[in-house]
Amino acid sequence: MKLILLGPPGAGKGTQAQRLVNRHNIPQLSTGDMLRAAVAAETEVGKKAKAIMDAGDLVPDEVVNAIVAERIEQPDCANGFILDGYPRTLKQADALEALLAERGLKLDHVIEMRVEDEVLVKRVSGRFSCAKCGAVYHDEDHKPKAEGVCDNCGSTDFKRRPDDNAETMRSRLRTYYKETSPLLGYYHCKGTLKTIDGMAPIDTVTNSIESILAG
Ligand code: AP5
Repeated sequence: MKLILLGPPGAGKGTQAQRLVNRHNIPQLSTGDMLRAAVAAETEVGKKAKAIMDAGDLVPDEVVNAIVAERIEQPDCANGFILDGYPRTLKQADALEALLAERGLKLDHVIEMRVEDEVLVKRVSGRFSCAKCGAVYHDEDHKPKAEGVCDNCGSTDFKRRPDDNAETMRSRLRTYYKETSPLLGYYHCKGTLKTIDGMAPIDTVTNSIESILAG
């Protein structure tokens, strides 16, 4: 199964992708996570990407396309993958289509998660994640079951993202509406787009996605 989760920052793409990984045994390909790893490792890509990400802008298409092309070649992608945060521009969507066509593959589903802007800002400002396994939480709406202990791996080490602040979030939202939202029309025309209510509770959103995957 090859699936894109599409939606603005804070829509819940990462949260749902992590659940789908466990249920369907396919990897989550998050370009945001890959770029943050490159920034942390201070690679050439990471050095270029850091200021762009801190400002809430998009890393150049050719850089991201190359990262995804390399990742899709890995053996764990043989049965499919969940794209989280990619593609984000029409050029990236065209590059993905070409990449898949070269391999005789095609997308099964593109799922748009629709959430109102004010809710997105609240979600992103309260977000934190496990420093060990990456499980995503929220200060109010989605706390770990035992305070200070990751539900998934038991780690007590958590972190927050530098771009999760109100100013950068406004820029990320502008970038989403300008650069990424045209993809809704792109995939609608291809007949692969489905839209779900991303404002619903996390379990309900998971059920909506699973219904689409079940056909
Ligand atoms: P990236 O890491 O992809 O960030 P994003 O798209 O802005 O998305 P987020 O990770 O912020 O949100 P999410 O939808 O995953 O929400 P989450 O599940 O965490 O990108 C970061 C940067 O990298 C970009 O700005 C750009 O610079 C660069 N980049 C990445 N990809 C790129 C590309 N393809 N091209 C160019 N540049 C690229 O949930 C958010 C919070 O809400 C959590 O606290 C969660 O617990 C909570 N929550 C989730 N669902 C619910 C729910 N249903 N109800 C209540 N709370 C919920």
